Amino acid sequence: MNKIGVIFDLDGVIVDTAKYHYLAWKELAKELGFEFTENHNELLKGVSRVRSLDILLNIGKVHLSEGKKQAYLESKNKDYLNYITKMGPEEILPGAKTILDTLDNLNIQYVLGSASKNAPLILKQVGLFDRFSGIVDGNSVSKAKPDPEVFLIGSKILELPPKNCVVFEDAIAGIEAANKINMISVGIGNKKILNKANYNFNNLTEVPENFFEKLL
Ligand code: BG6
Ligand code: MG
Repeated sequence: MNKIGVIFDLDGVIVDTAKYHYLAWKELAKELGFEFTENHNELLKGVSRVRSLDILLNIGKVHLSEGKKQAYLESKNKDYLNYITKMGPEEILPGAKTILDTLDNLNIQYVLGSASKNAPLILKQVGLFDRFSGIVDGNSVSKAKPDPEVFLIGSKILELPPKNCVVFEDAIAGIEAANKINMISVGIGNKKILNKANYNFNNLTEVPENFFEKLL
């Protein structure tokens, strides 16, 4: 392989927004009369907004009409926006900037591959938006992870075949999506959970400085 490109997931890899999703979903569950725990929240990582609501309603055994669901999706996102519009560069996860600097120095292009429709706003809040060669987010795809659509679009922007793309992901669905199309998958987080990844690190600070050079 002589050329690689990188695709980064956002939530849980570049920024820790899971805590804000949790607070907003918890508030909604409270309104609906049941408790939503941090363990429940694990089930929503990497999952689209619509699917997340279905999982949450299933936990609370609540049935809602499509119209009601739509209204709750909007109110949850409004709550979530209240948190993310207060985010700043200090919320970039440790190691993320160093990796982007390394990639810039090696002339390796990188794009975002996220399920979130709020991805552009979050990247702007933390001051990283302009660094990416492209943004693929929840607005650009019709099929959510574990479908590989988001990463395939990413590889097109990078103008590289999937096998030359390295994906950084914290969610099982994201690792599965990358593996389906033979991308090089890197699991960020618990190795036991992300055991299907080609490489595993607890967080981005653990990625060795020569990791990309070795792949080249
Ligand atoms: C993913 C998160 O990145 O984006 C999920 O891991 C979230 O928890 C999904 O549900 C959709 O995010 P948003 O911002 O469009 O509601
Ligand atoms: Mg994620």
